[in-house]
Amino acid sequence: MENFAVVQSIIKAALDADEAAVHKQVARLESRLRRAGAEKEVAAIERLLKAATEVKHLAPSQVVTSRAPVTGETLTSEVHPPMDRETGAQLCRIDLPGKGAPKPVYGPSAQETIDGLLSEWGHSDTLKAVGVEPTRSLLIYGPPGTGKTITGHYIAEQLGLPLVTARIDGLISSFLGTTARNIANLFDFANRYACVLLLDEFDALAKLRDDPHEVGEIKRVVNTLLQNLDRRREYGVTIAITNHDGLLDPAVWRRFETQLHMGEPEHVARETLIARFMTPINADAATIRIFSYCLPGRTGADLERICQAVKRTTVMTGEAPDASALFKALSSVLGRMPRLNHMPAEVLAANPRAFVSLIANDLEIGLDQKQIGQATGMSQSQVSTLKRKKLHLELPHAQ
Ligand SMILES: Nc1ncnc2c1ncn2[C@@H]1O[C@H](COP(=O)(O)OP(=O)(O)O)[C@@H](O)[C@H]1O
Ligand SMILES: [Mg+2]
Repeated sequence: MENFAVVQSIIKAALDADEAAVHKQVARLESRLRRAGAEKEVAAIERLLKAATEVKHLAPSQVVTSRAPVTGETLTSEVHPPMDRETGAQLCRIDLPGKGAPKPVYGPSAQETIDGLLSEWGHSDTLKAVGVEPTRSLLIYGPPGTGKTITGHYIAEQLGLPLVTARIDGLISSFLGTTARNIANLFDFANRYACVLLLDEFDALAKLRDDPHEVGEIKRVVNTLLQNLDRRREYGVTIAITNHDGLLDPAVWRRFETQLHMGEPEHVARETLIARFMTPINADAATIRIFSYCLPGRTGADLERICQAVKRTTVMTGEAPDASALFKALSSVLGRMPRLNHMPAEVLAANPRAFVSLIANDLEIGLDQKQIGQATGMSQSQVSTLKRKKLHLELPHAQ
């Protein structure tokens, strides 16, 4: 096999965990492939390198568990979560670290916040030495399916700590009197063990507040929660998540030192997510660009669902999952979706040839005729004809 010597050196460097050597050998391989005209392979390597730097950027290597601002006993699989005394329901879920939680994809500002927190938590000793406390609480808000819960898992994983996840609606007992006790038990548990406490679906509490019955009891529950959040500061990191930030009252907002908004991914993050969700199919950059062009405003969870549908559709046709098959599959998946509310997606759903007219005339997508041809399975001259015909203008959506 050609280049086997380089591959061998890469394997050796990787086994030695010698990162500099890995990079050197990968660069060697890349230049050999480039010389041999293997552009696709070079692009694949570049993607891997880019993904690796992204990950590194996300995960400062200096994060050390023992330095995280967390105290307590070690939580093991033998420890049972606390329970609701009346119903026996568990008040939280425990995820021990080491499972390799997926690394979420962030836009630049969310990335900065997460990076900042992780490196702060990795250096809490240094911070304390100069008399400042590290941030201990984070509120994540934004629409469903934007990666909030997986961010909680990811942070715990990066800190090497177990994640104790409570859903507030699970704590709210039908016997209202028990709710405050459940909350107190949950926090006692989290404070006893070294862990990250994740309060998911935090808005359930705010909804409860609107209930005109049981006003006194609800006040008590909210106060218990606020007191426990304050006390929790001494013990460890707390993350709360809500889909409806508008429902939380200012007293609750104030409890959280950092607030992180997670929204629909912008185009760079969208392309990264699409590439990820298309694996193991290795979609070309132009194909990913076309997917992304049709799917702005979609959440990460939407993109995942759509990519899965495309993969399913492609496989069922029995065709090789090449660019042209993926393009056709995207068109049919979009065609089956109700209310696309987005012109390019509507054009592609209605008529793939009109879509080619559209993107050949739209500078914003940034694809030349050759790339469009490759990504759609058409010849360059077909693309050029379609560009002239402007078929998309004949469709009602594109007016
Ligand atoms: N930013 C993102 N990065 C990676 N995956 C994402 C992202 N947003 C959504 N997803 C995908 O969507 C799924 C749902 O994400 P989740 O964290 O449960 O959303 P939320 O808690 O915001 O409702 C995840 O399992 C993941 O596959
Ligand atoms: Mg969630």
